[in-house]
Amino acid sequence: MTEFSHIPVLRDAAVRMLRPEDGGVYLDGTFGGGGYARAILQAAHCTLWAIDRDPAAILRGAELAAAYPGRLHIVEGRISNLLNLLNAAGVSALAGAVFDLGVSSYQIDDPERGFSFRNDGPLDMRMGKTGMTAAMLVNTISESELADILYAFGEEKASRRIAKTIVERREDQKFETTADLANVIRSVVRPDKSGIDPATRSFQALRIAVNEELDDIAAALTQAAALLAPGGRLVVVSFHSLEDRIVKRFMAQATGRAGGASRHDPASLISAEAPKFRLLTSNGQVPDAAEIRANPRARSARLRAMERLAA
Ligand SMILES: C[S@@+](CC[C@H](N)C(=O)[O-])C[C@H]1O[C@@H](n2cnc3c(N)ncnc32)[C@H](O)[C@@H]1O
Repeated sequence: MTEFSHIPVLRDAAVRMLRPEDGGVYLDGTFGGGGYARAILQAAHCTLWAIDRDPAAILRGAELAAAYPGRLHIVEGRISNLLNLLNAAGVSALAGAVFDLGVSSYQIDDPERGFSFRNDGPLDMRMGKTGMTAAMLVNTISESELADILYAFGEEKASRRIAKTIVERREDQKFETTADLANVIRSVVRPDKSGIDPATRSFQALRIAVNEELDDIAAALTQAAALLAPGGRLVVVSFHSLEDRIVKRFMAQATGRAGGASRHDPASLISAEAPKFRLLTSNGQVPDAAEIRANPRARSARLRAMERLAA
């Protein structure tokens, strides 16, 4: 069996920003391969609650939890449900929370998980094991819904042409594999000078839709911020502009730096009176050149953080 691994991005910066202290109770909302979790547990004698929706991540975490008995608790679930998950475990306040968003290399690099257009596999793309697969999505939704997903979540300019071609093709033969879908997309979108595979944006869009990623992020930020004790920090690492926009707006709103919030904006759930948080990163923090050289996945990462003010 192939062994996969995950090199954490901006881990040291995130843990420095979280500033774990002895006796504190923290949340790692995206456990993944446990790289952040291990570093937090090593930084202070604290307790860490970790969440991941992927059962494979939970299984992999058992060894780390055994190495930190009573200090690391790993829970399977979605971050959009973190308030319930933590309350059920008796946790009602946090000294800090960190999210390292998106997919792990364990997920992306394993063809069986169906995220990869480089290696063929079943067209799945689910981080967890429930809900619609990418195959169900591309084989059933309407052409206009598909085009909207490719445009909104992939910023794909050829969204309408791709959706039309996919719908025509599925009349003859349904999509079952990642390579089949990638080839059909490549037949519509020609490679440009960037060298980026033409299927990249569409695969990102489908992944976000399958996992309802953006809705989860918005819900998670609101819930985690509500749980932060005075001095507690919320630290978020995002990997593309759609994620980062949500984080940036949320933090701007919570720290009193944004104009009038839309009532659909998760930040509007936080009182608009005197700000209860202060921003710790005005433009976000990005990896240095050495980290990007060592780990190309770090290229588009950005860290943002805020802190709850004393009551
Ligand atoms: C980039 S990885 C985290 C890597 C981790 N920081 C490390 O150092 O190994 C993201 C992880 O978060 C999980 N995840 C992403 N979105 C999630 C969500 N909405 N709810 C729960 N887990 C989620 C994924 O399954 C994946 O394992």
